[in-house]
Amino acid sequence: MKDKLRVGALISGGGTNLQAIIDACEAERINARVVFVGSDQPGVKGLARAEKHGIPSFVMEYGPILQRPCEYRLPEDLDLDDVVSKQHLFSRDQTPDRARDYCSARAVAEAKLLAEMEKFPFDILVLAGFMRIFSPYIIDKINIGHDLPRIMNIHPALLPAFPGVDGYGDTFAYGCKVGGCTVHFVDYGEDSGPIIGQKAYTIDPGDSEMDIRKKGLELEWKLYPECVGLFADGRLSMASRGKRTVVEIR
Ligand code: GAR
Repeated sequence: MKDKLRVGALISGGGTNLQAIIDACEAERINARVVFVGSDQPGVKGLARAEKHGIPSFVMEYGPILQRPCEYRLPEDLDLDDVVSKQHLFSRDQTPDRARDYCSARAVAEAKLLAEMEKFPFDILVLAGFMRIFSPYIIDKINIGHDLPRIMNIHPALLPAFPGVDGYGDTFAYGCKVGGCTVHFVDYGEDSGPIIGQKAYTIDPGDSEMDIRKKGLELEWKLYPECVGLFADGRLSMASRGKRTVVEIR
């Protein structure tokens, strides 16, 4: 059997998706193991989950850096023009200063995050309820030299519908009759990268927002380990389709 895929995980909160991945690893449903858990928030339940399973963890708070970025030195290897030109978060007509400020502050935080993660060699990084958007600075550092992208994210909606911070709330508010969740590779935009897997649920008359969150989360706990398992088994490849890069599953 191939060596287990080394999975690094980043969280911001409760970590139920992290738990689902840990459980799938421990039950050997997937050929993987979680090698670290990082959080941008101290004291969250996901960190206690890591400790319970003997997984090393760290906290790297974005908050102080994003509040006062001028107090921090930019990473020496940051090519800000390159990062700003690659990002898809700000349109070309928005003020270039905004994109530069955004990317430089993110890069400061991301360099510190990379320094923590470098202590634990990993094959893929899973964002499991990590409520921060990566800039091209960190994405390139993690992906370069590899055939496949190496950062996965789970999103609580059927992308490309409802990217952003509240996928379930947006699905409910829109009056959708079907909702779902998506695992995708992270690219230079927000929730816009190539889709690896999706699961859908029916929204019944009378379902509340809480009901659909519950239905969605239960599907997330199946979907995320499945997608990590596909990566671990070498079943994912990238292909061009029109202007897009898509994931093919063998
Ligand atoms: C999950 O619903 C996940 O899809 C969502 O946060 C929740 C985390 O729950 N992620 C995002 O919205 C990312 N933009 P968890 O901490 O219990 O896994």
